[in-house]
Amino acid sequence: MTAPGLPMAVPAGDLPTRVRIHEVGARDGLQNEKATVPTEVKAEFIRRLADAGLTTIEATSFVHPKWVPQLADAEQLFPQVADLPVALPVLVPNERGLDRALALGASRVAVFASATESFAKANLNRTVDEALAMFEPVVTRAKADGVHVRGYLSMCFGDPWEGPVPIPQVVRVCRALTDMGCDELSLGDTIGVATPGHVVALLAALDEAGIPPSALGVHFHDTYGQALANTLAALQQGVTTVDASAGGLGGCPYAKSATGNLATEDLVWMLRGLGIDTGIDLGRLVATSTWMAARLGRPSPSRTVRALSHEDTEEH
Ligand code: HMG
Ligand code: MG
Repeated sequence: MTAPGLPMAVPAGDLPTRVRIHEVGARDGLQNEKATVPTEVKAEFIRRLADAGLTTIEATSFVHPKWVPQLADAEQLFPQVADLPVALPVLVPNERGLDRALALGASRVAVFASATESFAKANLNRTVDEALAMFEPVVTRAKADGVHVRGYLSMCFGDPWEGPVPIPQVVRVCRALTDMGCDELSLGDTIGVATPGHVVALLAALDEAGIPPSALGVHFHDTYGQALANTLAALQQGVTTVDASAGGLGGCPYAKSATGNLATEDLVWMLRGLGIDTGIDLGRLVATSTWMAARLGRPSPSRTVRALSHEDTEEH
């Protein structure tokens, strides 16, 4: 295997020395595939991601199987990867989902709220406040069991039905998730409309409301090619957790115009260039996404995967 190229490391000052990548390809990526990926392929994907050095790999969702049929095999998949020496968070929308996850020994769960009424209805069949009420016992029970809880918030910047989302509306739901006991929040730009100034303004408003960048992850979809710029803006404000999806897989079945997440390879390339440690083997990661693209029957949209895969098209 030819070692892939790497950028020259030139630190840019005032940036974190380490960034934790929260890999969402197996969940956010595969939930949006038209064809359901076989369970064994998902398990192999997650194993390869772990082998490439990812330490937090969102594995699946314990949601209603009719709402997201692509992840209906959560019970079959989770035990196949549970022994990996990595964190394997799973999505749970309600107590039924939590029961299913706990029965398999999950130690990290994520609830997922919306900043807008339209998406709360489309994604959870609830108003924003009804969804928060649904999460409350999930978070309380999970915390009592020593389970780590992430609180996602979707539509933090724009919503396909409602347009731009006012910052105070986002802050209110973030506050509610924090008060409920979530250990960390992830700010979702579900449809990829954020730009760096907007990111900085939201982070400042959250900081003012008592939620500092250190308690936040960022979750950028790359619809308009802004995900990397938005990530850099967030890092400059002190965020150290970044969600990304291997090969840029992804989207959301309940939000039109959601495309793939920031590609993990593009993120790792930039972080390596900035001299920020991620512990990830970029060559192995590119090989994993190339392998997965072959399973899905189309090339990865990640620029870094495309640039490097000609140096390593080997499927192993
Ligand atoms: P509902 O239809 O209102 O469900 O859906 P319900 O509470 O009325 O229950 C109806 C039936 O479903 C009951 O069964 C429940 O037991 C069953 P019955 O009594 O009729 O036989 N049920 C379940 N079964 C299995 N597992 C469960 C479960 N819950 C209820 N967990 C619900 C409400 C929340 C369940 C549904 O709307 C749902 O599953 N939504 C999930 C949608 C989803 O997964 N979207 C994608 C993830 S979010 C995302 O991608 C955004 C993110 O990436 C960040 C970003 O980019 O912004 C995170
Ligand atoms: Mg998402």
